[in-house]
Amino acid sequence: MSHEISIDSNLSKEERYLQLLSQIKAIVAGETDLIANLANISSVLKETFSWWWVGFYFVKENELVLGPFQGPLACTRIAFGKGVCGSAWSRKQTIMVDDVETFEGHIACSSASRSEMVVPIIKNHEVLAVLDIDSEKLAQFDVIDQQYLEELTALIALLF
Ligand code: SME
Repeated sequence: MSHEISIDSNLSKEERYLQLLSQIKAIVAGETDLIANLANISSVLKETFSWWWVGFYFVKENELVLGPFQGPLACTRIAFGKGVCGSAWSRKQTIMVDDVETFEGHIACSSASRSEMVVPIIKNHEVLAVLDIDSEKLAQFDVIDQQYLEELTALIALLF
């Protein structure tokens, strides 16, 4: 089954997220494979918001391991509590970083990344993966992104 997404770039950020969420629901409804769905979700997020890097890291034993993503080459493994991703995992909370240089222990997979948002994917109180989004511009994320990306990760948790 094929889909094309169409998000009107003239819409407000909230409206684009609402359209995106409904289109993502349609995409995952037609496919049961987790990797296939996460690959498409990373694609539609990047296409809609033109972020630098969008992808997933899976919790595997005691570290995060790179999963489906869109964007440049990335670090493959991140330890618990390390970097923004490992910290979102250990804190079980979304972390929003306006300037990655101010985040102690930030892992620079790409020197172009300036701001970042990491949202844990939680099921039964356990972090299963994280959604990591990087921008090459400073302070690109706000509470609206947090709200809708947390809604999205709640939906993604149901796919595991
Ligand atoms: N910057 C992240 C590492 C992952 S890359 O940005 C894709 C971190 O500090 O955890």
